[in-house]
Amino acid sequence: MIRDSYIKTVIEPFKIKSVEPITFTTREDRERILRTAGMNPFLIPAADVLIDLLTDSGTSAMSAKQWAGILDGDESYAGSRSFFRFEAMVKKITGLAFIIPTHQGRAAEKILFTVKGGPGKVIPNNAHFDTTRANIEFSGATAIDCMTEDGKRPEVVADFKGNMDIDKLEAVIQEHGVENIPLVMITVTNNSGGGQPVSMANIRATRAVCDKYGLPLFIDACRFAENAYFIKLREPGYADKTPLEISQEIFSYADGVTMSAKKDGIVNIGGFLAMNDADLALQCRNLLIVTEGFPTYGGLAGRDLEAIAQGLEEVLEEDYLHYRITSTAYLGNKLVDLGVPILMPPGGHAIYLDAARFCPHIPASQFPAQAINCALYLDGGVRAVEIGSLMFGTTNADGSFNGAQMELVRLAIPRRVYTQSHIDYVIEVVKHVHDRRESLKGLRLTYEAPMLRHFTARLEVLD
Ligand code: F0G
Repeated sequence: MIRDSYIKTVIEPFKIKSVEPITFTTREDRERILRTAGMNPFLIPAADVLIDLLTDSGTSAMSAKQWAGILDGDESYAGSRSFFRFEAMVKKITGLAFIIPTHQGRAAEKILFTVKGGPGKVIPNNAHFDTTRANIEFSGATAIDCMTEDGKRPEVVADFKGNMDIDKLEAVIQEHGVENIPLVMITVTNNSGGGQPVSMANIRATRAVCDKYGLPLFIDACRFAENAYFIKLREPGYADKTPLEISQEIFSYADGVTMSAKKDGIVNIGGFLAMNDADLALQCRNLLIVTEGFPTYGGLAGRDLEAIAQGLEEVLEEDYLHYRITSTAYLGNKLVDLGVPILMPPGGHAIYLDAARFCPHIPASQFPAQAINCALYLDGGVRAVEIGSLMFGTTNADGSFNGAQMELVRLAIPRRVYTQSHIDYVIEVVKHVHDRRESLKGLRLTYEAPMLRHFTARLEVLD
């Protein structure tokens, strides 16, 4: 990386070899498309989206070396060469003994909690992602978030807002009883809490609590490399360490890992489960064979394993991480300069608009973040995702409404996909929506599924 003082611009550390056209639509088109989608951007065909910031998951651009790996993948059913390359890379980063490939992160969660969950069990985490929570609850167990008070306040600027609240973790263990807690989890970075990092000191403190009570610690490692880079930038003692060394230290405190390689594996599909406990690995592999596949491919093709191995190497390159974290912050800082309220400070993989401050006239029960999300699509063909009361809100038997902790619109940045001019365009669209924010109206549900309702919900605009 060129870091001479006369260079201010952080450029994309790659050039583009292959391109994919994006579709321009008119406002009239988008009004019709959004109405057909029941005011739920999840239901808009991707071909009708101009800039797609729905997720950073599985949406990455792979490198030429990853595509070469796709061609070179060994498709043997058992003992594929690509599996051994994948296994060696995951072992190098995590230091864990048993590496089990799965088709994505939630498949790893499903297997882990089928073995470790069940009625009466309680699983604490700094903040569970929605599929993690759903897999825990589906097993009959209870998922509990232990976020710090700072982490729950979008306007607070702090270095490690993703941290586990250590006192709350201990209180949860004491309240529910060690015997009912099969494991403790920590999610890096904390996606539900704004893509905010967890400090090494906090991971160490979580480990110390686990040791005190004899509990295993599992890391939800989806964005481990971004978290490692934040540690390098912000935590004393890590400035001279490489992202790989920092990642290795993070995982040295873990007994196991669940991973969606669709994020920091920089691939379009894949994940894994890893652990040190041989008995647990045996049980998980037996389930894997029933639901995913033989243990050396686990629901993936050999070529996918090859692409993950290469992606894990590239994600730890410092030039890449510098560009990744800086370019996400670029979007956040520009929005702050324009007076748009965002969750502070900018996260690793996404910027979260703070809908509660953006549209204070829309109550939580009328889904302010979804209203903004729809407006971003209408005004500019930009698709984001609601992380607020549509995702997490519940209605009591008496009809009263429990809103989510925060009302957020997540603008997730796919890895290596959009250039700075795409992001400048997004900034203009957000500014336009913000300028006309008082004209935005709340929404009402017309259909909701019993679980994970935000994916398929249909809504209409309230007058
Ligand atoms: N854990 C975290 C922290 C996640 O962000 C995700 C996925 C998963 C687990 C599940 O992984 O999708 O491969 O099954 N997050 C995506 C998102 C979907 O948009 O944030 P998966």
